[in-house]
Amino acid sequence: MAETRVRWWHLPLRIVIVLAVVALCLTGWFSWSVQASRLPDRIPMTGNMMDNMTGDMTGHNMQHSQQNDVSVTSLVGPQSGEPNERFTLVAQEAQMRLSSGATVNAWTFNGQLPGPELRVHQGDLVEVKLINKLPKEGVTLHWHGLDVPNAEDGVAGVTQNAVQPGESFTYRFVVKNQPGTYWYHSHQASQEAVEKGLFGALIVLPRDDSFTGKDIPVLAHSWPTKEGSYQQAFDTFDTLKRLAVQPGTPVRLRLINTDSLPINFVLSGTSFKVIAIDGTDLHAPTELTRQRLLVAAGGRYDIQFTMPDTTVSLDWLQKSSKVGLLLSRDGTGNAPALADGPVFNPATYGSPQQTPFSLSSHFDKEFSLVLDDMYGFYDGKMASLWPINGKVFPNTPMLMVHEGDLVKVSFVNRSWMDHPMHLHGHHMLVLSYNGRPVTGSPWWVDTLNVAPGESYEVAFRADNPGIWMDHCHNLNHAAAGMILHLAYEGVSSPFEVGPGTVNQPE
Ligand code: C2O
Ligand code: CU
Repeated sequence: MAETRVRWWHLPLRIVIVLAVVALCLTGWFSWSVQASRLPDRIPMTGNMMDNMTGDMTGHNMQHSQQNDVSVTSLVGPQSGEPNERFTLVAQEAQMRLSSGATVNAWTFNGQLPGPELRVHQGDLVEVKLINKLPKEGVTLHWHGLDVPNAEDGVAGVTQNAVQPGESFTYRFVVKNQPGTYWYHSHQASQEAVEKGLFGALIVLPRDDSFTGKDIPVLAHSWPTKEGSYQQAFDTFDTLKRLAVQPGTPVRLRLINTDSLPINFVLSGTSFKVIAIDGTDLHAPTELTRQRLLVAAGGRYDIQFTMPDTTVSLDWLQKSSKVGLLLSRDGTGNAPALADGPVFNPATYGSPQQTPFSLSSHFDKEFSLVLDDMYGFYDGKMASLWPINGKVFPNTPMLMVHEGDLVKVSFVNRSWMDHPMHLHGHHMLVLSYNGRPVTGSPWWVDTLNVAPGESYEVAFRADNPGIWMDHCHNLNHAAAGMILHLAYEGVSSPFEVGPGTVNQPE
């Protein structure tokens, strides 16, 4: 029998061949993954109407609308009638300056940064005309936290097409019984649009407004400067802003987080009350001192105090820079010592009050959403992904409901970042936090910060038919697919999102 001679180069050759095959497979898998992760050109915004078991979640892009569906375009506010308030917002580019002198190549409404403050009263018929004078980008107006009819919600590709340069669009809605603090922003390419300035405060006053003190909206934002840095600021004040307030004056600060990360605010120099969260008053709020107020990205806290004889300051807690608001009799003086402390917990603040439903209610639908992180491919790029139940848009679940359903949603965050979950068109009552029932005031939210390791149960009544976004308001996460939709049975949308359309809502 002839002996097979093993030549010295046989082993290396085999290794090389094996490595080559492995490399080929990896490249193949990589380019397949890149391709497979590309978003379809056009994604219709209609849920699966057929398969609608209790609590069933069906994916996006499942099938087309049915003949007898109601179109979102018919779910409008009053088309006739003289509005109580009428505004025009013109989206336009402008070079703006922060108080430090830093420049922002901004996208503005009416050349203002932030956009004009819109003040309306509950029950008002409001008409807002949006005119787009940006050179290339589409724009919409979304009324963050206001529960308007679906067609007025301003989400590109869901409730309308993005308004193109040179075009305009008119929104009309009656402000519901929800006096409080809201904000508006573009919901087309919102990640970039909000960062560059297409937002403003939206304040709803009670019908019989009796507040005579100082009412101060504070829009906290990180501005991208021409110099390449991000400047944290209250409005456009990235340095200390001084205000003169007479001692004895009631002061209401409306803290609005327009950033993508939670903001820790600290109020020093006086005790205060948190009187409202996300536009809803809290019941029997008590005096606080030395608390850190963590406001979700997109969320709002209203705080109130009586101006003392000494100075009061509001700080944005952070490592560097000194952003703040300083109140004193004549606007001068030094800031009081920082009254930092434990993080304020709304779950145990104030006292309980009758709510339309509670933990012990019977729920028509129950959904469970697990927020996670993973590294993967999205729209042809390697990216950090923030999946919901293991999926990113358009494969995320669609929450299908019937009008009138009582819906419970639980959130669990298994990832390492905060996810401020924002539901359009509805307010969610927080039922439990980390497994413990809420014991304080009823706590209604439209934007709930779910921090790493936290879990929440919330509930809402499905009383506003349409197709609604439900997404993370860290707009970078949303742009990477951390969005889903709440869809009512029998409602469909003629709009589409995707690279082949004018609509990229995030
Ligand atoms: Cu502040 Cu989907 O919105
Ligand atoms: Cu997120």
